[in-house]
Amino acid sequence: MLARLARLFGRGRSAQADFTVSSGGPAGDADGGALIRLRGVDRAFGRGVSRNIALQGVDLEIERGEFIGVDGPSGSGKTTLLSILGLLDTPTAGSYLLNGRAVEEMPASQRARTRNREIGFIFQSFNLIGDMTAFENVDLPLSYLGLPGGERRDRVTEALERVGMAAKAGSYPSQLSGGHQQRVAVARAVVGGPQILLADEPTGNLNSDQASVVIQMLAELHEAGSTICLVTHDPRWREVTRRTVHLFDGRVVEPAAGAAEPVS
Ligand SMILES: Nc1ncnc2c1ncn2[C@@H]1O[C@H](COP(=O)(O)OP(=O)(O)OP(=O)(O)O)[C@@H](O)[C@H]1O
Ligand SMILES: [Mg+2]
Repeated sequence: MLARLARLFGRGRSAQADFTVSSGGPAGDADGGALIRLRGVDRAFGRGVSRNIALQGVDLEIERGEFIGVDGPSGSGKTTLLSILGLLDTPTAGSYLLNGRAVEEMPASQRARTRNREIGFIFQSFNLIGDMTAFENVDLPLSYLGLPGGERRDRVTEALERVGMAAKAGSYPSQLSGGHQQRVAVARAVVGGPQILLADEPTGNLNSDQASVVIQMLAELHEAGSTICLVTHDPRWREVTRRTVHLFDGRVVEPAAGAAEPVS
């Protein structure tokens, strides 16, 4: 796959492979079921005339190790879906089984713990903290995991090395290009060894060379076993994602006639 990517995206430098990802969940998936299972998920905002239905009756299963794409027009509910998958938001109706566990039945503290341990996020706008160095940004998720200081430092250094940013560990986001900021954000997303990576238009603010690097990093993470759900409008991602979920007005729909399908 990487050779195909290199042909497709041309000049981007390959990110280093061999990211650490966890391969299995702590509990609840002993039946070998889907890692993620949404059933009849709705998300509505507001009330009365200002009620806005962002998702409606969404059924979705994602198997462990899958790399799926999510596309759809602006306002179709892509970010809302990712927020629900990442436990940043809750459905107003329907059920969400993560690793066989019903998310809606988890107390808030368990949801937060699950989010911190099992899910990594990558955003279009990088979302690095401006007054923290690259090192401190990558270290931040580890502060929730209760690891000893030495192990934290090793993990952060390793993650920065793997995205080719070790030399910039002391730089602040404003001193880094967009492509470098997104590499740091990838390191931050994977440093804790999450099972699931959720990426919302991660190359939307990058030029084509910078985008190639990020695409290859995600492809390598997938090859190493990560489950990835990626929101994107960029058709080039179809080479990597294999399966695309199409949203329209908050519903999962079949692809438009004649739309390009994934290359096998
Ligand atoms: N916090 C909120 N309060 C009210 N409405 C919201 C909120 N978040 C999202 N929405 C609405 O839900 C719908 C889906 O929004 P969402 O951001 O998920 O779309 P999207 O597909 O990610 O769009 P884009 O491609 O522009 O990022 C939109 O109509 C949006 O206005
Ligand atoms: Mg969005």
